[in-house]
Amino acid sequence: TTKLKLSKQNIHVIIKDTVKIEMNYKSRRNNRMEQLKNESSRQYEYMEKMKKWVQKKSEELGRKLTCHVTTFGCQMNEKDSEKLLGILETIGYEEVETEEADFLIFNTCTVRENANTKLYGHLGQVKKMKERNPQMMIGLCGCMMQEEHVIEKIRSSYKFVDIIFGTHNIFKLAELLKARVDSKGMIVDIWKDTDQIVEDLPSDRKFSFKCGVNIMYGCNNFCSYCIVPYVRGRERSRKPEDIIKEVKQVVSEGVKEVMLLGQNVNSYGKTLEEPMSFAELLREVEKVEGLERIRFMTPHPKDLSDDLIEVMATSKKVCKHMHLPMQSGSSRLLKLMNRHYTKEQYVALAKKIQERIPGVSFTTDIIVGFPGETEEDFKETLDVVREVGFDSAYTYVYSKRSGTPAASMEDQVDKDVIKDRFDRLLALLKETSAKNCKKKVGDIERVLIEEENTHEEGMLTGRLENNLLVHFKGCKEQIGTMADVKLVEEKGFYYMGEQIHG
Ligand code: SAH
Ligand code: SF4
Ligand code: F3S
Repeated sequence: TTKLKLSKQNIHVIIKDTVKIEMNYKSRRNNRMEQLKNESSRQYEYMEKMKKWVQKKSEELGRKLTCHVTTFGCQMNEKDSEKLLGILETIGYEEVETEEADFLIFNTCTVRENANTKLYGHLGQVKKMKERNPQMMIGLCGCMMQEEHVIEKIRSSYKFVDIIFGTHNIFKLAELLKARVDSKGMIVDIWKDTDQIVEDLPSDRKFSFKCGVNIMYGCNNFCSYCIVPYVRGRERSRKPEDIIKEVKQVVSEGVKEVMLLGQNVNSYGKTLEEPMSFAELLREVEKVEGLERIRFMTPHPKDLSDDLIEVMATSKKVCKHMHLPMQSGSSRLLKLMNRHYTKEQYVALAKKIQERIPGVSFTTDIIVGFPGETEEDFKETLDVVREVGFDSAYTYVYSKRSGTPAASMEDQVDKDVIKDRFDRLLALLKETSAKNCKKKVGDIERVLIEEENTHEEGMLTGRLENNLLVHFKGCKEQIGTMADVKLVEEKGFYYMGEQIHG
C-alpha cells in the first residue's frame, strides 16, 4: 500500500496495492472553466465505458444489475445521493428499494457519534448479503470518509468494501467504479479539500415536485463542537447563472418547490468573481416562472441581513419560515461555541423577524450538554425558547467529535444531567409549538400536496408554507400540485383539514 500526498492540488490519495487512479491533473489546461467542462465530459466518458460493462454483465447474468443508495445525515447528503443515483442510472443500473442490490452505496454522516454507529450496524449486515451475492459491490462515501481514523478502521476491519470516496469527489463515481472493475483491490480516493465545482452531471430526484439545489459547499465557521468544516472543506459558492439554470431545468420538469442548500447561506456569493448577496440570489431565483415556493437552509444568526428579512417579508415565493439555529441561550456558552452572537442579539434578531414578517414560522437547532453547561446556562436556553416561542426545534445531545476544539474542553457534562435537561427542553418546546399550531385553526392555507396518507385511504398529506403538515381528503392524482386547504383541527404539530375546491 502506498500513501501519496499531492499537496499541490490539496489532494490526498491513498492508492492501494497496484491500483492506480489516473489523476491526470497536470496535463489539464490552465483555464479553470475549461478544466471543469473537461472534467464533466471526462466523467461522461467513464459513464459510457461503464455502461458497456453493465450491459455485458447483465447479459451474462440474464438480468438487470441493481443499485441502492442509503443516505445518512442532512439535505446536503440527500442531494449528493441524488447525484450518485443519477450517475448509476446513466450507467444502466436499476434502482431498487432494498439494500440487497448489486451495487450498494452508503452516503455517510459524522455530525454526531450515533450517525457513525448506524453505519457500522449496516455494514455488519452487508457482509452476509455479499456472501449471498458475490456480484455485490459496496461503496462508502460522504462526510465520515473524510476522517482518517474511519478509513483506517474500514481498511482493517471491513475488507469487503470495494470503493471509498469522500465529499469532494462524488462526481467521479463512474471513474472509481471503472478503477475497481479493472483491478482486484479496494479503491480509496479521498481529497482533503477542493475548489472545484463540477457542473452538468446527471441527477435522479427523489421527488418529482420538490428538490434541493446546492448554492454553496463547505463551511468556514468552525463552531467549536462541529465537524462539518473539517469534512466538507472551505466555503465556495456556485455561480448564480448555474443555480438559475438548474432551477429552470427542474421547474420545467415539474418541480414546484426548491430548497436552496448551504451550511451558511448568509455567506453566499462572497467568494464569487462578481460578488452577490444571498438576498440578491433569492430575488433572481424568484423570477423563475412556474416556481411556486422557495425555501433555504441554513442561515447563521451572526450575519443575517436586513435585506434577507425584507425579501422574505415581501416575496410571494419565499416561504415565511425561518430556521435559525440558536444552539444555546447562554452567552457564555455561545462564546465557547464560537458562534459570534449573544443571547440578547439572538432574541433581538428573532423579534425583529417576527415583527417584520407577521405569522412567520420560527424554528431552531439546540444542543444540550455542551462541555461546561451549568443549570444556569441551560435555564438561559429555556428562557429564549419561552421568549421566542419557537414553532419547533431540532434538539441534539452534544456529541464529542474528535479533532474539534470542544472535544478537548473540560467538564464534559454527565449523561443523566443531560437526559433530564433534554426532557425539560422537549416539554417546553411541545408547549410553544402547540400554542403556535392552535393560532392557525380556521385559516385557509395554500399547500403543496406531497403524498398519500399512509394511515388512511383516500387521504392526502400537504405541506404548509410554515413546513407543518395537514391531512385532508383528495385523490392521489393531485400529488405534486398546489391546493387550498382549510385547517379544521390542530393536533399539536399537524392539522386535519378540508380541501377548498374552485
Ligand atoms: N450549518 C448548519 C447545520 C449544521 S449541522 C448550522 O450552522 O446550523 C446541524 C445541527 O447539528 C447544528 O445546528 C447543531 O445543532 C447540530 N450539531 C452539530 N454538531 C454537533 C455535535 N457535535 N453534537 C450535537 N449536535 C451537533
Ligand atoms: Fe457546523 Fe457551525 Fe458550520 Fe453550521 S455554521 S456547519 S454548526 S461549523
Ligand atoms: Fe452529516 Fe455531513 Fe450533513 S456530517 S449533517 S451529512 S454535512
